Amino acid sequence: MSSENVVDAAPHPAWLPDGALAAVGRRRVALRTPELSGPAAGIPSRGPDTSPEVLATLRAEVEHATTAHGGDVVAPDASPDLLLALSPELSADGFRCVRDGGRVTVTAATATALLHGWFHVVRRGEAAFTGPDADERHAPATALRMLNQWDNVDVHPYMGQVERGYAGGSIFYDAGVVRADLSRVTEYARLLASIGIDRVAINNVNVHAREARLLTDDLAETARVAAALRPYGVRTHLAVSFASPMTLGGLSTADPLDDAVRAWWSDAADRVWAAIPDFGGFLVKADSEGQPGPFAYGRDHADGANLLAEAVAPHGGVVHWRAFVYNHTQDWRDRTTDRARAAYDHFAPLDGRFAENVIVQVKHGPLDFQAREAVSPVLAAMPRTRVALELQVTQEYTGQQQHVCYLAPWWRENLGFQPWGAGSGGDGVTVADVVAGRGPDAAPAVAAAGGGGIAAVSNVGDDRFWTGHPLAQANLYAYGRLTWDPTLDPAEILDEWISLTFAGPDGAVDPQVRQTLHAVMDDSWRTYESYTAPLGVGFMVSPLRAHYGPDVDGYEYSKWGTYHFADRDGVGVDRTRATGTGFTGQYPAPWRDVYESLETCPDELLLFFHHVPYSHVLRSGTTVIQHIYDTHFAGVEQVRATIAAWEALDGRIAADVDTCVRERLAEQLRSATEWRDQLNTYFFRKSGVPDVHGRTIY
Ligand code: GCU
Repeated sequence: MSSENVVDAAPHPAWLPDGALAAVGRRRVALRTPELSGPAAGIPSRGPDTSPEVLATLRAEVEHATTAHGGDVVAPDASPDLLLALSPELSADGFRCVRDGGRVTVTAATATALLHGWFHVVRRGEAAFTGPDADERHAPATALRMLNQWDNVDVHPYMGQVERGYAGGSIFYDAGVVRADLSRVTEYARLLASIGIDRVAINNVNVHAREARLLTDDLAETARVAAALRPYGVRTHLAVSFASPMTLGGLSTADPLDDAVRAWWSDAADRVWAAIPDFGGFLVKADSEGQPGPFAYGRDHADGANLLAEAVAPHGGVVHWRAFVYNHTQDWRDRTTDRARAAYDHFAPLDGRFAENVIVQVKHGPLDFQAREAVSPVLAAMPRTRVALELQVTQEYTGQQQHVCYLAPWWRENLGFQPWGAGSGGDGVTVADVVAGRGPDAAPAVAAAGGGGIAAVSNVGDDRFWTGHPLAQANLYAYGRLTWDPTLDPAEILDEWISLTFAGPDGAVDPQVRQTLHAVMDDSWRTYESYTAPLGVGFMVSPLRAHYGPDVDGYEYSKWGTYHFADRDGVGVDRTRATGTGFTGQYPAPWRDVYESLETCPDELLLFFHHVPYSHVLRSGTTVIQHIYDTHFAGVEQVRATIAAWEALDGRIAADVDTCVRERLAEQLRSATEWRDQLNTYFFRKSGVPDVHGRTIY
């Protein structure tokens, strides 16, 4: 976003402007690969067709960088500053990076891993070449690092081209067709490769009639998309409809135990892999929010998932089967139904029944991507199942790419959560460990497969900045970096993103820009939480305005679930075993007891687990009602401070970025003020308790 990137029709370079390539581009770079320097025996190829194309990509990247910055592509034996070499003895994922007297050698076993190594050096910039000699191995924490596009082929009458998309249309589809020009998809794959993402499910998990055909009649179109992703080592997955044997195949049933159904899926999978040899697998939302599934036949989710697993197994494919299953037609009068319980109730009893190539994909929280909720207990309940964590990069409930909301601190909390506590027994095992197959009691097959990995809903569209809000690019960047290394510090990831994105032509970043971006973004998720979701209450969003803006009772009497139960005396959802829905019992110790007790439940989740009087005193010493007022006033002031900080950058940011950010900051202030006034007024009217500071409440 330096001034070299002035407005034009081309998409914004995001975190890969030419300036970000300065350190590598100034140097003498060599490649040693079979394709480029003669055949080398024994070099494994990642997929049938992938390697030659990825190697060609790598060569093009090196040529581009060195041309832009005056370096050179030289022979491997000409003492290059940077040597990139395929080396069969390394493991398939990850790379080795050796610095010896200022010379850097990156080796990897596959073309894609070598490409990841190249981008590692790009990210490090000058630091890659300076400093003491080093010999480092870099491997991703988990083998499956994926993005889910919620893109529709047809424009959906309510959800539009991209469901929960806040960045324009789809880069894949345009009003009923796969785009003729998919060059932007390849640009996207470049961004993904630079952060280590190597799989994309290319269509919405809500598979409507048009999208379903990507599996069959439109397979040639799907193959074109796969071809656009492949040069950067990104593999294609498809979201499929469980009813496909009926809707596409003309069968009278989709019963997972029916032989004709099994044969249909097997043929379908054969055809997909014939067209796309490096295809990844299927993603399924079944028996959820109206999508078809195995329940119609009296079967369960294991039956359903194993049906597809059997079909893709001969090709080495996987099935991502979502655990996002709950009753969305509940009666709000029925206090025993608790949406938070649903995924565990459905899936935990099935542990041990899923095939080895099934991955149960679990949203990070038991509800739905709220700005704050507890970590899903399902993640700790299925040691004999490959489990993936699902995050939401698109900001459905976190400001819809109108509000600045850097989500890495939130994801980092989820990944670092220790379901069995820090001490004995759990020994500090984290969610990140579980999804890498390293949970306690993980079955051998789960451990051997490296678990289920991490997936997330993408925030990208055909908007010039990719993500609507230019600063929302940082969320996509951080997501990729955390999938590779879930222990990274969010502020350091942001720093890396700033160094790349705001690099001037010489690679340098204006220190004031760096400092201001940290001030604007580091704590922006907590700021967003402060004016929207006090103490773990979620869903006070507008159902009519697609979850944007406040509507405290929007879901309170709704069939989708009910979330705060505020009355004149108190607020919160009683999820205890003693008096509530019993949800706390889904956690292992110590959390089942920590959350159960008012004495130990963390403040930020208090109203997620307990219904308390407004006068309840928090650990901070303030009452619940005063906390609601204080955080809402403070949140708006924080947004004002953010705006002042940004405005002080006057002239230091490219005009197009600056204009777009200013417009959105103005909207954020308007919206945050609306949140403050509606929530404060609502809870003042309910409770009758005045603000101790006498501030204006309506
Ligand atoms: C949320 C979201 C839906 C989406 C669903 C899912 O409920 O609002 O648009 O389909 O999650 O994850 O499947």
